[in-house]
Order: sequence, then structure tokens, then C-alpha cells
Amino acid sequence: MERKYNIAVLPGDGIGPEVIDAAVVVLKALMRADPSLKMELTKGDVGEPAHEKYGNPLPEETLKLIRESNAVLFGAVGKFATPVILPIRQQFDLFANVRPAFTFDGVPALKKNVNIIIVRENTEDLYKGIGYSIDDTTFVSLRLFTKKGMERIVRYAFELARREGRKSVLLAHKAPVIIHTDLPFLNCFREISREYPDIQAKDMLIDSCAMKVIMTPEMFDVILVSNQMGDILSDVAAGIIGGLGFAPSGNIGGRVAMFEPIHGSAPEFAGKNKVNPIGAILAAQMMLGWLGEKQAASRIHRAVSSVLIEGKVRTFDFGGDATTTDMAGEIAKTIEGQA
Ligand code: IPM
Ligand code: MG
Repeated sequence: MERKYNIAVLPGDGIGPEVIDAAVVVLKALMRADPSLKMELTKGDVGEPAHEKYGNPLPEETLKLIRESNAVLFGAVGKFATPVILPIRQQFDLFANVRPAFTFDGVPALKKNVNIIIVRENTEDLYKGIGYSIDDTTFVSLRLFTKKGMERIVRYAFELARREGRKSVLLAHKAPVIIHTDLPFLNCFREISREYPDIQAKDMLIDSCAMKVIMTPEMFDVILVSNQMGDILSDVAAGIIGGLGFAPSGNIGGRVAMFEPIHGSAPEFAGKNKVNPIGAILAAQMMLGWLGEKQAASRIHRAVSSVLIEGKVRTFDFGGDATTTDMAGEIAKTIEGQA
């Protein structure tokens, strides 16, 4: 059976275009290795190039492209991150930000045997951007949680745990202190967890959780966390597995989903063909998994793992001098050579 997908490719700015080019090299190798898998890759502008061309970092042309696609592969946006990423998450109702953090053999990392999936709520909380100034000395940001928002992210985390064969979901929160939002979130979590007797439900204070993710990460499985706390916790988790170069993410929940490396636009490295594209390549892997292309996703994973174990091609962030294109080429070659 032929499987055909329309993929919107949004490189963005900074190092976004380089890492996305690398991911596209890998996707093209996959299509050569399996001709029944067809992806129409259509580029769209976001961030600086869109601002230059349309006077808008998130133009209607790009929103239309996203609407017409099955999935989106996104690079990075620097200066315009807030007016690009946040409206996409909101408008397409991408309420779950899934951020796996796992170690690869061959990558020097603070910790070994890490296999955490962070499920970060992606549309509510301080990221709604609601706030005001009472006067010029007092400033307010409102932390908004809704019942619908809490219930759907809790269910998402438990369903994901089931689907991925995970044993537990742990909610990281500060309910005893943030009583107006985190306490109802914890109550909602406890109530919905009863629908999933096969998955262990746990909870932990966010500060303690952040420390334990660094000291004993092997104790964690699926971590559920609210939007802003999850932003921080997911960088902490990336930090222990070898850095942001190895961390992908998926913005999921609506009809379309968007996949991106966690790292930002790192403009100081832009155009140098130097950065590690594995975050973007693993984002492409997550995209294929979400599209139901489990085999294609696993081909990418196996190729990345074997290139890392072999250790001949390493970018500077983990002690090598290979370029971004060297890394993409090596992973692509490995995919084409797979049995
Ligand atoms: C992330 C980023 C974004 C966030 C920024 C760029 C808006 O840090 O995806 O983690 O805070 O969510
Ligand atoms: Mg972040």
C-alpha cells in the first residue's frame, strides 16, 4: 500500500535551516529505502525570512500550508519565537508537548540509562500571555488552567504511557503552594488516574523533581507537568542526556502536529555547518511515529544509534569535528544500508 503524506517544512532562522536540511536529507534517504513511503515536503517561511518577505513572522501563507498538511517539521526561530511558536500551538490546539529524554550509547552525558518522556501542557498557564500592570510598580501575569485543559493533558499522558508500554505517570507540581491552579490540577490527575489502573500514578513537588531528574533520572518514566514548569524541566532533562543537540519534541493534540528540536535558533552558530542536527532528525522520527509509520521511525532511530555507537562522525558538541552535513550524510547512508 502506498502511504503519502503532505509535510510542511518550516526551517525558520538561525541554525533552523541547517538542521532542517539535515532532517530532510534523512527523510529522502528513507523514501529511497522504502519507495512505498511518499512524503511531499513543502517549505514555508516563518521567523526572519517571513518577516522580510511578508512583513509578518507567521504569515497567512504559512498558516494555510500548515492547515493543508498532515504534519509540520519545524526548525527554530530566534527573535520572533514568541509570535510564531505560541500562536501555532494555540491556533492548532497542540495541547501536548511531548519531550523524550533518553541516552544514546556513544554520547558523553551526565547520566546513563535515562528514558524519560516529559508530557508538558502546551496551551495554558502563564503561556496564555494574560496579564496587566496595576500601576508602574506592580505587574501581574495570570496563570490560567481550565478543567478541559487539565483533563485532556492528564488523559493524554496516561494514554501515551499505555501506548508506549510505560509503567507510571508522575505529575510534577507545586500544589501545596500554588493552590488556585496546581491543586485542582493534582486533584484532576488523581481522579482521572483511576481510569488507568494498569498505570501507576505518582506525584512529586516540582523542585524536588528537578533535583532528582539530575541525580537519579533512572527513577522516572513519564512525567506530566504544566506548561511553564515543563519548559524548564525539559531543558534540565536534555542537559543530563548530552545536551540540547539530542532533544526532539512534538506539539500534538490537533488534526495536525508539529515536530521540532528543543534547541533554539542559536544565531551565533548559524551558517557555520557546525551544529548537531540529531535533535531535528529525532523530531522527524517522532513525526513518522505520530503518522503511524512505526517502521520508518524505527529505521531513523536505529541509524542514529548505530552512528553514535560507531563514534566516527561526531559534531563539536560531543567532541568531534564533523559538520552538520557530515552527520546527516552518515545517518542517511546508514538508513540506505539497513537490511
Ligand atoms: C520551548 C521554547 C519556547 C517555550 C519558547 C521559544 C517560546 O523555550 O519550546 O521550550 O518557552 O515553550
Ligand atoms: Mg524551552
